[in-house]
Formats: sequence, structure tokens, C-alpha cells
Amino acid sequence: MSVSSRQVTNNKMKLFPIILAAGQGTRMNSAIPKVLHPIGGKPMLAHVIDSCKQLQAEKIAVIYGHGGDQVQAKIQDDAITWVHQAEQKGTGHAVAQAAHLMHDDDLVVIAYGDVPLIKADTLQCLADSLQNADLSILTTLLDDPTGYGRIVRQQGEVDCIVEEKDADTAIRQINEVNSGFIAAKGVDLKRWLQQLSPENAQGEYYLTDCVAMAVAEEKRVITVICENPSEVEGVNNRLQQAKLEREYQTEQAQNLMLRGVSLLDPARIDIRGNVSAGKDVIIDVNCVFIGTVKLGNNVIVEANCVIQDSVIDDNSVIKANSVLESASVAENCNVGPFARLRPGADLQKSAKVGNFVEIKKSIIGEGSKVSHLSYIGDTYMGRDVNIGAGTITCNYDGVNKHLTQIGDHVFIGSSSQLVAPIKVGDYATVGAGSTISRDVPANKLTLTRPIQKTINGWQRPTKKNNN
Ligand code: UD1
Ligand code: CA
Repeated sequence: MSVSSRQVTNNKMKLFPIILAAGQGTRMNSAIPKVLHPIGGKPMLAHVIDSCKQLQAEKIAVIYGHGGDQVQAKIQDDAITWVHQAEQKGTGHAVAQAAHLMHDDDLVVIAYGDVPLIKADTLQCLADSLQNADLSILTTLLDDPTGYGRIVRQQGEVDCIVEEKDADTAIRQINEVNSGFIAAKGVDLKRWLQQLSPENAQGEYYLTDCVAMAVAEEKRVITVICENPSEVEGVNNRLQQAKLEREYQTEQAQNLMLRGVSLLDPARIDIRGNVSAGKDVIIDVNCVFIGTVKLGNNVIVEANCVIQDSVIDDNSVIKANSVLESASVAENCNVGPFARLRPGADLQKSAKVGNFVEIKKSIIGEGSKVSHLSYIGDTYMGRDVNIGAGTITCNYDGVNKHLTQIGDHVFIGSSSQLVAPIKVGDYATVGAGSTISRDVPANKLTLTRPIQKTINGWQRPTKKNNN
């Protein structure tokens, strides 16, 4: 930021961010309004709103138009004042729709719903710069400024902004461009907006024409240079969206690494939400984190895991290709490879859930093991239980879900079915291949198993000639 010292915003001045989000976004080729397309799993507009909220603004207005119902349904936020722009007649016209909300002493900051990576600090800096000016423009320097409004200066001072379509060859050479973000006092902005006219190449009311008006009034116009151009990059198509998604993910990955997480390849992680992590966490490639995920110290997440809204405590290992959703994994657990922890899976200390095991809404007690090919649902399991391969809790009778209660130190033989509701007492052993439909007493062997027979003299069928 070129405004060096961060000034404190005058207390009497109230920040009023206005976010333009009325455009159609034709080039997205989508039924979804552009500003709802996500970056990091969150609508672009929500990113901008979140940055504006960090400014502790008194109110935030969003100018909506195309797909307004969808936008309002998705972004339900009491902090927002919604302002309708029925017809899109240009950025100046869009801002003018919110003129009735501007108080004279508001510090109005204009932002864009399709420019998702703008940082609160940058907006704050833009607003603070109004301490020394009447109109402040966030600009950036681009090697290829094509398409942007150019900052035209006279003796170093800003004179006006000329849009690409209105620019001559000389002006098109200028590589200082208008990011679109501007800040001005309500009293000035309202006056300038009233004077806008659509006499330009696009027949639009340009917000940028306020600059020449300010200069004509001998007001002070300054620029704040945004050093990271991706912060002010807009999204018009899915290629640009994908580019900003990578920028966003790169930053997420860097933040994690700086906080003590090892990423085996920082280019191959996706964070769609918030990940917090202790020290010496290791995350292998192609993992996706969704929602709020908390990782303790020394957690290892192997390749290709998808982890959503889950907590994983110290020293636990999530092996490759596991999928966790709303699960809780205590310390020293082992999950996967190829495990699925569904909502309400609660693994207590040192539990083990192995390959091709699905756990739903169940407590797996301390030190208990479900190592292979099992479904455990609606179950309370005590400690040091061993569930043999292929065990199924039959928790659903087609209408209702029923509970399975397994005591401590139970051993369930392989390929058993526990037909809930059912209780299995402490230290019980269930023989392999049993279908258990009545409660199992503690300390005993219980099994249901047909008697094994051998048929003497039985002959294998032989192939007949006529077929
Ligand atoms: C605008 C600036 C240009 C700047 C560029 C940066 C103007 C006249 N030009 O040009 O100087 O370099 O942004 O990206 O301001 N919108 C509405 N209602 C409208 C018109 C636009 O909500 O009536 C919204 C659009 O949805 C979009 C944003 O405002 O998010 C920018 O509008 P757009 O027409 O794309 O402006 P640019 O031509 O990109
Ligand atoms: Ca644009």
C-alpha cells in the first residue's frame, strides 16, 4: 500500500461500504447469478461482504439486480441493506440507487461483488486516505491494462479516468488502471452522482466520471496503489474464477504452512472453509477441507482425504482416501485407509477404524477397533472392543432407527449382524457369522450358527452333452 502510515478514521465519520452486484455475468454461461459462484466454497459476494464487515461499518448496502431472488436467498445476512437496481445503466447509476442511504458525513467505499479477493485492510486504507483527500481511487499497475479505465494525470495529479472504449491510443498506453474501488464522503458523492450523464461510448452512467467532477471543483483526488493485483481482479468467466480460486488456495496453503503445518505439495490442497491446526501437522497431497476443521498437534492426513466440519485430536492419523463429515476423532486414533466417518461418528482415544468401514452417529470407545469392512450406526460402544471384519449393525427396520449398545471388552466375531435394538454385555463374545437379535449376556460366548454338515458320497454335477 502506498499510503504509508495507517491513519485512524475520524470518529465522526462512519464507513458505508456499497457493493455492486447487479450485473448479469453473461460470460459465466450459468443459471446462477455470477456473484454466487464460489471461491473457496463460498459465494464471491460473501467474500466481499465479509471483508466489508471487518471494517466495522455501520451499514453495508448491496446493489442487486439480475437473479436478485437467488442472491438474497443465498446471502441471508442482517447486516445487509438490499438495494434494487432494476436496469443496469452503469456503475454510476448503480451507486446512485443507494444515494438515499448516504449521510453527508459517511465515508462511502465502493466495492464489487465479483471482485472477491479484496482485503479489509486495503478497503480500510482506501477509506483512511480520505483524511487527506476528497476522493480516493484504488489503482493498480498492470503490464496489460486492456479493458480497464486508465488513470490520466496532469503534472502528476489525477485528472480523470478514461474508459478503454473512450480512450485514444495515447491513453491506452497508460498502465495505471482504475480498480473500480473508490472512496468519498457521502455529501460529495451524492452531488456528483446527480450530475452524471451517459454521453460516452457505452451510453452508461460511469461512476468514474466523478473524478473529473471532483477535479473541476478543485477537490483533492488521490490514488492508493494496490500492490497485489489479484486483490482487485474481477471475475467475468469461469477461467478467471479458476485463476482466483488458485490465488486464494495458494494463500490458504501459505497461511497453514506459516502456522506450522507441513504440506507435501502446497499446490495440491483445497480449503473451502477454515482449518485450524496445531504444531507439526502433516498433510499429504489432494486433501480437501470443507467447513470448520480442527486438527491437533502431530496429526497426519494422508493423500486424497475429504474432511468436513470435523475435529481430529493430537497424534491421530487419517490414512489415504478417507472421507470424514461432522466427525470427532480423539487423540492417537487411526482412521482408514478408505474409511468413511459420517455425521456423529465419535472416536474416543486410541480407537481404530480401518478400511472399508462406515461409521454413523456412533461412539467408538477408547481403544476399540473396527478394522475391516463394517457398518456401525447408532451405536454406543465401550472400551477395548474388537469388532470383527464384516460386522453390520442392523439399525434400521425400514421405518425407525434403533440403538446398539456394546459394553467394554466385547469381541464380535467376523461377519456378524447385530439387529437393533440390542445390548451386548461387558466381556461378551459373539461367535463369527452370528445374527444376533436378542440381548447378549456379559462374560459368555453367544452365537447363532447352523450345525455344519458334510454329505458323504455327494458327487459334483457334470456337464450334460445336450447343452
Ligand atoms: C469498471 C470501471 C473501470 C475499471 C473496471 C475495473 C466504470 C465506468 N468503469 O469498468 O474504470 O477499470 O471497472 O474492473 O466504473 N454493475 C452494476 N450495475 C450496473 C453496472 C455495473 O451492479 O449498472 C456492477 C457489475 O455487476 C460489475 C461492476 O459493477 O460487478 C463493474 O461493472 P462493469 O460494467 O463490468 O464495469 P467495467 O466495464 O468493468
Ligand atoms: Ca468488469
